[in-house]
Amino acid sequence: MLALPATLATLFALVALVTGCSAPEPGARRAVSAPAVQAPAAATPTFPAPSPASASAAAKPAARRSGFDDMSPPTQAMQRDDAANPAWLWVEDGRQRFDAQCARCHDVRAMAGVAARHPAWDAQAARPLTLGQRIAACHRRHGQPGSADLAPDDETRIALETFVALQSRGRPIAPPQDPRLAPWRERGRRLFEQRVGQLDLACADCHERHAGRRLAGSVIPQGHPTGYPIYRLEWQGMGSLQRRLRGCLVGVRAEPFGSDSDEATALELFLMSRAAGLPMETPAVRP
Ligand code: HEC
Ligand code: HEC
Repeated sequence: MLALPATLATLFALVALVTGCSAPEPGARRAVSAPAVQAPAAATPTFPAPSPASASAAAKPAARRSGFDDMSPPTQAMQRDDAANPAWLWVEDGRQRFDAQCARCHDVRAMAGVAARHPAWDAQAARPLTLGQRIAACHRRHGQPGSADLAPDDETRIALETFVALQSRGRPIAPPQDPRLAPWRERGRRLFEQRVGQLDLACADCHERHAGRRLAGSVIPQGHPTGYPIYRLEWQGMGSLQRRLRGCLVGVRAEPFGSDSDEATALELFLMSRAAGLPMETPAVRP
């Protein structure tokens, strides 16, 4: 059993593990002239709106900044340009599915802002539902009789979630002030602080205490869920926040949370409240 302290050396090895740093992001590789070392983050443009944190990030380490701000210029360009963003294939797929399965009850315009205020309390389930779970619930409650629950990375759920979340792009993350959510959020906060895995590291060790450090060629982001579902270059496809978290947990040799487990839901609630005010970026591109 390794019981290593969260020293920089440990983190260095870990970041290599988490990011697979032997393989630089394809965007950076393609652009021959891209500098090996990124320009200081404060000088890079942000999208869709400059996060209020960017300009003062150096002065205030705790200020919130999106993972977008830590990406290489070619990857940022890919996200900024809808015609170059591969996630657009999923957006179009989601639009078709929405028209076919959802539009009889939902005007797409009513979906604006919905992703920015999820997870939200669901009276029928008597628990919080993430946006993906909410879509799965509608699919089950109002879809074909006997419809099975859609798993977090089911292609129907991902396409619909991407399309619905796109309707909130540019809107600030605005977690509901519903007191029923408070105990779940608190549980998420504890999970964020709790050291786990053989490497005995908490989310907060990397995403608070070491966020912004450049290790093994990549920056540890603050870990905000601003752009989900994301197109991840490493996956060559779209994935949910739950899939991203699984990657982080496996990276520290911890047991990943189960699909749509209470832990994953509580953590998503906490992460969204921690990211309150940052603009939604779905569909984001990440290395
Ligand atoms: C038969 C009507 C019906 C269909 C079809 C339907 N929904 Fe819903 N949806 C509802 C109702 C009613 C609610 C309010 C919450 C509830 O009772 O579940 C809702 C709530 C939602 C919400 C939360 C909205 C908010 O303002 O918080 C989302 C997102 C959503 N549905 C997405 C979908 C998607 C995506 C589909 C297609 C797979 C779909 N729904 C199909 C009736 C429907
Ligand atoms: C060993 C350090 C480490 C730990 C511990 C860790 N992460 Fe991460 N996390 C990373 C790195 C590095 C990335 C970026 C990976 C990349 O860009 O390839 C990342 C990415 C993320 C992202 C994506 C942010 C974005 O912009 O899309 C989220 C969200 C996240 N982590 C949340 C968590 C949570 C929640 C935990 C605890 C369960 C956790 N992480 C534990 C290192 C860590």
